[in-house]
Amino acid sequence: MAPLSQPPPSPIGARLEDAVFAVRRRVATSPRVGVVLGSGLGAFGDTLDGLVKIAYRDVPHMPSPAVEGHEGNLCFGDVAGTSVVCMQGRVHLYEGHPVDRVVQGVRTMARLGAGLVLVANAAGGLEPAWSPGDLMAIDDHINLTGISPLTGVNDGDVGPRFPDMTAAYDPELRAWLVAAGRDAGVPLRQGVYAGVLGPQYETPAEVRMLRVLGAHAVGMSTVHEVIALRHMGVRVAGLSCITNLAAGIADRPLDHAEVEATARSRQEQLTTLLRGWIARAGASSRPAGTP
Ligand code: HPA
Repeated sequence: MAPLSQPPPSPIGARLEDAVFAVRRRVATSPRVGVVLGSGLGAFGDTLDGLVKIAYRDVPHMPSPAVEGHEGNLCFGDVAGTSVVCMQGRVHLYEGHPVDRVVQGVRTMARLGAGLVLVANAAGGLEPAWSPGDLMAIDDHINLTGISPLTGVNDGDVGPRFPDMTAAYDPELRAWLVAAGRDAGVPLRQGVYAGVLGPQYETPAEVRMLRVLGAHAVGMSTVHEVIALRHMGVRVAGLSCITNLAAGIADRPLDHAEVEATARSRQEQLTTLLRGWIARAGASSRPAGTP
Protein backbone atom coordinates (compact mmCIF):
# COMPACT_ATOMS: atom_id res chain seq x y z
CA MET A 1 0.00 0.00 0.00
CA ALA A 2 1.29 3.50 -0.80
CA PRO A 3 2.38 5.41 2.32
CA LEU A 4 -0.09 8.00 3.58
CA SER A 5 1.18 11.51 3.04
CA GLN A 6 -0.15 14.98 3.81
CA PRO A 7 -1.41 16.83 0.73
CA PRO A 8 0.81 19.83 -0.05
CA PRO A 9 -0.60 23.14 1.29
CA SER A 10 -2.64 25.01 -1.33
CA PRO A 11 -0.96 28.06 -2.84
CA ILE A 12 -3.59 30.29 -1.17
CA GLY A 13 -3.18 28.72 2.28
CA ALA A 14 0.61 28.68 2.08
CA ARG A 15 0.78 32.33 1.01
CA LEU A 16 -1.54 33.33 3.84
CA GLU A 17 0.59 31.48 6.37
CA ASP A 18 3.70 33.34 5.16
CA ALA A 19 1.92 36.70 5.34
CA VAL A 20 0.44 36.11 8.80
CA PHE A 21 3.80 34.86 10.12
CA ALA A 22 5.52 38.07 8.93
CA VAL A 23 2.82 40.33 10.40
CA ARG A 24 2.77 38.48 13.74
CA ARG A 25 6.47 39.27 14.21
CA ARG A 26 5.52 42.97 14.28
CA VAL A 27 2.04 43.08 15.91
CA ALA A 28 0.55 40.71 18.43
CA THR A 29 -3.09 41.82 18.33
CA SER A 30 -5.83 40.09 16.37
CA PRO A 31 -7.80 42.82 14.60
CA ARG A 32 -11.55 42.37 14.81
CA VAL A 33 -12.40 44.84 12.06
CA GLY A 34 -10.76 45.51 8.69
CA VAL A 35 -11.01 48.54 6.42
CA VAL A 36 -9.78 48.88 2.82
CA LEU A 37 -8.96 52.47 1.91
CA GLY A 38 -8.87 53.17 -1.83
CA SER A 39 -7.74 56.07 -4.05
CA GLY A 40 -7.18 59.25 -2.06
CA LEU A 41 -8.92 57.77 1.00
CA GLY A 42 -5.90 56.54 2.99
CA ALA A 43 -5.76 59.22 5.70
CA PHE A 44 -7.99 57.28 8.10
CA GLY A 45 -5.22 54.70 8.55
CA ASP A 46 -3.04 57.33 10.21
CA THR A 47 -5.69 58.16 12.82
CA LEU A 48 -5.64 54.78 14.61
CA ASP A 49 -4.64 54.78 18.30
CA GLY A 50 -1.30 53.04 18.90
CA LEU A 51 -0.65 52.95 15.17
CA VAL A 52 1.76 50.32 13.82
CA LYS A 53 2.39 50.45 10.07
CA ILE A 54 3.78 47.62 8.01
CA ALA A 55 4.68 48.38 4.39
CA TYR A 56 3.22 45.94 1.87
CA ARG A 57 6.75 45.30 0.62
CA ASP A 58 7.53 43.77 4.03
CA VAL A 59 4.59 41.34 3.82
CA PRO A 60 5.31 38.26 1.71
CA HIS A 61 3.21 37.95 -1.47
CA MET A 62 1.64 41.43 -1.07
CA PRO A 63 2.00 43.45 -4.26
CA SER A 64 2.64 47.17 -3.82
CA PRO A 65 0.42 49.76 -5.51
CA ALA A 66 1.97 51.65 -8.41
CA VAL A 67 -0.93 54.10 -8.79
CA GLU A 68 -0.69 57.71 -7.71
CA GLY A 69 -2.83 58.27 -4.60
CA HIS A 70 -2.37 54.73 -3.30
CA GLU A 71 0.04 54.20 -0.43
CA GLY A 72 0.91 50.64 0.45
CA ASN A 73 0.69 49.92 4.18
CA LEU A 74 -1.14 47.68 6.57
CA CYS A 75 -2.08 49.94 9.51
CA PHE A 76 -2.82 48.36 12.89
CA GLY A 77 -4.34 50.18 15.85
CA ASP A 78 -7.50 50.84 17.84
CA VAL A 79 -10.64 52.90 17.35
CA ALA A 80 -12.49 53.46 20.63
CA GLY A 81 -11.10 50.21 22.02
CA THR A 82 -11.77 48.08 18.94
CA SER A 83 -8.75 46.52 17.28
CA VAL A 84 -8.59 47.48 13.60
CA VAL A 85 -6.44 46.71 10.56
CA CYS A 86 -6.52 49.00 7.53
CA MET A 87 -5.19 48.50 4.04
CA GLN A 88 -3.87 51.92 3.16
CA GLY A 89 -3.97 51.58 -0.61
CA ARG A 90 -4.78 48.61 -2.82
CA VAL A 91 -3.64 47.08 -6.07
CA HIS A 92 -5.87 46.66 -9.11
CA LEU A 93 -6.21 44.05 -11.80
CA TYR A 94 -5.37 46.67 -14.44
CA GLU A 95 -1.87 47.06 -12.96
CA GLY A 96 -1.21 43.58 -14.30
CA HIS A 97 -1.34 41.63 -11.03
CA PRO A 98 -2.99 38.21 -11.09
CA VAL A 99 -6.39 38.30 -9.43
CA ASP A 100 -5.29 36.15 -6.48
CA ARG A 101 -2.60 38.74 -5.66
CA VAL A 102 -5.18 41.54 -5.92
CA VAL A 103 -7.03 39.90 -3.00
CA GLN A 104 -3.97 38.88 -0.98
CA GLY A 105 -4.41 41.90 1.33
CA VAL A 106 -8.03 41.26 2.24
CA ARG A 107 -7.39 37.55 2.68
CA THR A 108 -4.51 38.39 5.02
CA MET A 109 -6.76 40.72 7.07
CA ALA A 110 -9.35 37.94 7.32
CA ARG A 111 -6.76 35.33 8.31
CA LEU A 112 -5.43 37.72 10.99
CA GLY A 113 -8.90 37.71 12.56
CA ALA A 114 -10.93 40.50 10.93
CA GLY A 115 -14.48 39.11 10.72
CA LEU A 116 -16.06 42.40 9.65
CA VAL A 117 -14.54 44.36 6.77
CA LEU A 118 -15.51 47.67 5.21
CA VAL A 119 -14.27 48.14 1.64
CA ALA A 120 -14.08 51.78 0.49
CA ASN A 121 -13.41 53.00 -3.02
CA ALA A 122 -13.55 55.95 -5.38
CA ALA A 123 -16.23 55.54 -8.04
CA GLY A 124 -17.93 57.34 -10.88
CA GLY A 125 -21.58 58.19 -10.30
CA LEU A 126 -24.12 56.94 -12.83
CA GLU A 127 -27.03 59.02 -11.54
CA PRO A 128 -27.26 62.47 -13.15
CA ALA A 129 -28.79 63.92 -9.97
CA TRP A 130 -25.78 62.94 -7.85
CA SER A 131 -22.77 65.19 -7.23
CA PRO A 132 -19.03 64.63 -6.94
CA GLY A 133 -18.27 64.15 -3.27
CA ASP A 134 -21.45 62.16 -2.50
CA LEU A 135 -20.93 58.99 -0.46
CA MET A 136 -22.78 55.77 -1.35
CA ALA A 137 -23.34 52.69 0.80
CA ILE A 138 -22.98 49.74 -1.58
CA ASP A 139 -26.05 47.47 -1.68
CA ASP A 140 -24.72 44.95 -4.14
CA HIS A 141 -22.26 44.67 -7.01
CA ILE A 142 -22.00 43.54 -10.63
CA ASN A 143 -18.64 41.98 -11.49
CA LEU A 144 -17.97 42.96 -15.11
CA THR A 145 -14.25 42.19 -15.06
CA GLY A 146 -14.78 38.70 -16.46
CA ILE A 147 -12.71 37.08 -13.71
CA SER A 148 -13.09 35.78 -10.16
CA PRO A 149 -10.41 35.37 -7.48
CA LEU A 150 -11.88 31.92 -6.86
CA THR A 151 -10.96 30.41 -10.25
CA GLY A 152 -8.66 27.41 -10.06
CA VAL A 153 -8.44 24.65 -7.47
CA ASN A 154 -10.52 25.53 -4.40
CA ASP A 155 -8.89 25.38 -0.97
CA GLY A 156 -11.63 23.99 1.27
CA ASP A 157 -9.74 25.27 4.34
CA VAL A 158 -10.14 28.84 3.04
CA GLY A 159 -13.76 28.62 1.88
CA PRO A 160 -16.34 26.65 -0.10
CA ARG A 161 -16.17 25.97 -3.85
CA PHE A 162 -19.46 27.77 -4.54
CA PRO A 163 -19.91 30.59 -2.02
CA ASP A 164 -23.31 32.28 -1.82
CA MET A 165 -23.40 35.97 -2.80
CA THR A 166 -27.06 36.70 -1.99
CA ALA A 167 -26.30 39.24 0.73
CA ALA A 168 -22.67 39.94 -0.11
CA TYR A 169 -23.00 43.44 1.37
CA ASP A 170 -24.38 42.61 4.80
CA PRO A 171 -27.63 44.52 5.50
CA GLU A 172 -26.79 44.95 9.19
CA LEU A 173 -23.34 46.34 8.44
CA ARG A 174 -24.92 48.67 5.87
CA ALA A 175 -27.43 49.85 8.46
CA TRP A 176 -24.53 50.73 10.80
CA LEU A 177 -23.08 52.89 8.02
CA VAL A 178 -26.37 54.67 7.48
CA ALA A 179 -26.75 55.20 11.25
CA ALA A 180 -23.16 56.48 11.53
CA GLY A 181 -23.89 58.87 8.66
CA ARG A 182 -27.05 60.09 10.37
CA ASP A 183 -25.15 60.71 13.65
CA ALA A 184 -22.39 62.58 11.83
CA GLY A 185 -24.71 64.59 9.58
CA VAL A 186 -23.24 62.84 6.52
CA PRO A 187 -26.06 61.77 4.18
CA LEU A 188 -25.49 58.55 2.29
CA ARG A 189 -26.71 57.44 -1.12
CA GLN A 190 -27.29 53.71 -1.59
CA GLY A 191 -26.82 51.67 -4.73
CA VAL A 192 -25.19 49.00 -6.85
CA TYR A 193 -21.48 49.17 -7.70
CA ALA A 194 -20.36 47.93 -11.13
CA GLY A 195 -16.78 46.65 -11.10
CA VAL A 196 -14.95 47.05 -14.42
CA LEU A 197 -11.36 46.25 -15.44
CA GLY A 198 -10.20 49.73 -16.53
CA PRO A 199 -7.77 51.45 -16.50
CA GLN A 200 -9.45 53.60 -19.14
CA TYR A 201 -12.58 55.33 -17.96
CA GLU A 202 -15.81 54.22 -19.62
CA THR A 203 -17.20 55.47 -22.90
CA PRO A 204 -20.56 57.25 -22.71
CA ALA A 205 -22.13 54.18 -24.41
CA GLU A 206 -20.72 51.92 -21.68
CA VAL A 207 -22.09 54.28 -19.06
CA ARG A 208 -25.56 54.06 -20.66
CA MET A 209 -25.22 50.26 -20.60
CA LEU A 210 -24.24 50.24 -16.92
CA ARG A 211 -27.33 52.28 -16.07
CA VAL A 212 -29.53 49.82 -18.00
CA LEU A 213 -27.89 46.99 -16.03
CA GLY A 214 -29.03 48.58 -12.78
CA ALA A 215 -25.74 50.03 -11.52
CA HIS A 216 -25.48 53.36 -9.69
CA ALA A 217 -21.69 53.68 -9.51
CA VAL A 218 -18.74 52.32 -11.46
CA GLY A 219 -15.18 51.63 -10.40
CA MET A 220 -12.11 49.49 -11.00
CA SER A 221 -11.76 47.69 -7.66
CA THR A 222 -13.72 46.12 -4.80
CA VAL A 223 -15.62 43.27 -6.47
CA HIS A 224 -12.77 40.73 -6.24
CA GLU A 225 -12.00 41.73 -2.66
CA VAL A 226 -15.63 41.24 -1.68
CA ILE A 227 -15.82 37.86 -3.42
CA ALA A 228 -12.66 36.70 -1.61
CA LEU A 229 -13.95 37.95 1.75
CA ARG A 230 -17.34 36.29 1.35
CA HIS A 231 -15.53 33.09 0.36
CA MET A 232 -13.86 33.23 3.79
CA GLY A 233 -17.16 33.92 5.57
CA VAL A 234 -16.27 37.54 6.40
CA ARG A 235 -19.15 40.00 6.75
CA VAL A 236 -18.72 42.96 4.39
CA ALA A 237 -19.80 46.59 4.08
CA GLY A 238 -19.01 48.71 1.03
CA LEU A 239 -18.69 52.46 0.66
CA SER A 240 -18.10 54.46 -2.52
CA CYS A 241 -16.91 58.03 -2.63
CA ILE A 242 -18.52 59.36 -5.82
CA THR A 243 -15.55 61.32 -7.08
CA ASN A 244 -17.05 62.31 -10.43
CA LEU A 245 -20.08 61.81 -12.59
CA ALA A 246 -19.32 59.07 -15.12
CA ALA A 247 -18.36 59.81 -18.74
CA GLY A 248 -21.09 61.40 -20.81
CA ILE A 249 -23.08 62.36 -17.68
CA ALA A 250 -20.50 64.97 -16.81
CA ASP A 251 -20.06 67.49 -19.60
CA ARG A 252 -16.26 67.33 -19.59
CA PRO A 253 -13.51 64.71 -19.84
CA LEU A 254 -12.54 62.75 -16.72
CA ASP A 255 -9.20 63.35 -15.05
CA HIS A 256 -7.56 61.10 -12.43
CA ALA A 257 -6.13 64.11 -10.59
CA GLU A 258 -9.65 65.48 -10.11
CA VAL A 259 -10.94 62.08 -9.00
CA GLU A 260 -8.23 61.94 -6.38
CA ALA A 261 -8.71 65.55 -5.28
CA THR A 262 -12.43 64.94 -4.71
CA ALA A 263 -11.69 61.80 -2.69
CA ARG A 264 -9.16 63.69 -0.58
CA SER A 265 -11.67 66.48 0.05
CA ARG A 266 -14.00 63.90 1.68
CA GLN A 267 -11.41 62.27 3.93
CA GLU A 268 -12.53 64.09 7.07
CA GLN A 269 -16.15 63.00 6.60
CA LEU A 270 -15.03 59.52 5.71
CA THR A 271 -12.98 59.34 8.91
CA THR A 272 -15.98 60.41 11.02
CA LEU A 273 -18.18 57.88 9.25
CA LEU A 274 -15.66 55.07 9.69
CA ARG A 275 -15.25 55.83 13.39
CA GLY A 276 -19.02 55.64 13.87
CA TRP A 277 -19.21 52.43 11.88
CA ILE A 278 -16.34 50.81 13.81
CA ALA A 279 -17.93 51.81 17.13
CA ARG A 280 -21.03 49.86 16.09
CA ALA A 281 -18.97 46.97 14.75
CA GLY A 282 -17.01 46.82 18.01
CA ALA A 283 -20.23 46.70 20.02
CA SER A 284 -21.73 43.87 17.95
CA SER A 285 -21.41 40.36 19.23
CA ARG A 286 -22.31 38.34 16.13
CA PRO A 287 -19.16 36.70 14.85
CA ALA A 288 -18.22 36.21 11.23
CA GLY A 289 -19.43 33.05 9.64
CA THR A 290 -21.02 31.71 6.53
CA PRO A 291 -24.34 33.36 5.69
N1 HPA B 1 -15.12 55.09 -13.75
C1 HPA B 1 -14.41 54.04 -13.28
N2 HPA B 1 -13.71 54.10 -12.15
C2 HPA B 1 -13.72 55.25 -11.46
C3 HPA B 1 -14.42 56.38 -11.91
C4 HPA B 1 -15.17 56.30 -13.12
O1 HPA B 1 -15.83 57.24 -13.57
N3 HPA B 1 -14.22 57.36 -10.98
C5 HPA B 1 -13.43 56.83 -10.02
N4 HPA B 1 -13.11 55.56 -10.31
